Amino acid sequence: MIECKDVCFGYGKTKDTELIHSISLSIEKGEFVAITGENGAGKSTLSKLIAGILKPSSGKITVSGADTAKSKNSELARNTGFLFQNPDRQLCAYTVREEIAFGQKALKTGTEEEIYRRTDSIIEEFGFSPDAAPFSLSRGQRQRLALASIIAVEPKIMILDEPTTGLDYKECMEIMRSVQELNRNGTTVVMVCHDMELVLDFAARMVVLAGGRIIADGETLDIMRSRDVLKQASLLPPQIVQVALELEEKFSGRFDFSDVRTADGLAAKIQEAIK
Ligand SMILES: Nc1ncnc2c1ncn2[C@@H]1O[C@H](COP(=O)(O)OP(=O)(O)OP(=O)(O)O)[C@@H](O)[C@H]1O
Ligand SMILES: [Mg+2]
Repeated sequence: MIECKDVCFGYGKTKDTELIHSISLSIEKGEFVAITGENGAGKSTLSKLIAGILKPSSGKITVSGADTAKSKNSELARNTGFLFQNPDRQLCAYTVREEIAFGQKALKTGTEEEIYRRTDSIIEEFGFSPDAAPFSLSRGQRQRLALASIIAVEPKIMILDEPTTGLDYKECMEIMRSVQELNRNGTTVVMVCHDMELVLDFAARMVVLAGGRIIADGETLDIMRSRDVLKQASLLPPQIVQVALELEEKFSGRFDFSDVRTADGLAAKIQEAIK
C-alpha cells in the first residue's frame, strides 16, 4: 500500500543538507505503524513525504500504486489524510459543521446533500455542537475536530503527526479510540508518536528513526524490549516493559516476562512464578 524505496530528502538543495537518508519501507493495507525517534530525527519529514506533502529528492514513494512525485495533490489527498501536530494549521471554517464539510467539498466526495448528511452523522458520533466556532473549542476538541474532518473524507490511509501532544488523558484516549476504530475498519494508520505507552497500546508495528535513517522496524513489543535500539534513539520503554526486563535480570532469566505488555499480564506472570 505504501512503498518507500531508497528515499532521500533535504530541505536545502545540496547533498550535505540531506535529512532523510535512503529510507526503504513498506507498509501493508490495514497496518497500524508508529514512527518514533528523538527530536529532529526526521519523523515529521518522513510522514509528510509519505503523505505526498513533500517529494523525495531521490528515490521513490508509491501510495496505492501512485508515485507521489507524479500525482496531483488533490488525488493524493483523497487517498491519504494527514493530521498536523498543530490542529490550528488545518482548521479554517467559522463553524464546526462547515469545518467538517470543508474537506469533503474540496475533494468533491459527493453531492451537497450527501456531504451534509455525512457531516451531521459525524457531528453526532463525535458529540460536537454544530454551530460552535472551531477556535472557541479547547485544544483537545480542536484536535478531535481536525481528525473528524479528515475521517469525513474516508481516506484509505491516515497519517497522524503526534496527534496527542498537549492533550490530557481523557482527550488523548478520545483521539486514540477514534483512530483505533478507523484502523479496525480497514484504514491504514501511520502515527508519529513519542509516547511509548501509547505506541505499545495501539501500534502493532514500530519504526525507529535516528538521524534520518531507520534503525529498527518490527513488532512493537520486540523493539521496546531492545535496550540498544531505544538507547540509540534516546527513547525510554514503557514502565511495564522496563519492569519486565528488570525482573528477568533479577531472576537471571529463570522466568520469562517477554510477552508482558500490561500491568495485569505482569501480575499474572508474577503469580505464576511464585507458585
Ligand atoms: N521546513 C524546514 N526547513 C528546514 N529544515 C527543517 C524544516 N522542517 C524541519 N527541518 C529540520 O529537519 C530536521 C528533522 O525535522 P523533523 O521535523 O522531521 O523531525 P522530527 O523527528 O519530527 O522532530 P520532532 O520530534 O521535534 O517533531 C530537523 O533538524 C529540523 O530542524
Ligand atoms: Mg515532528
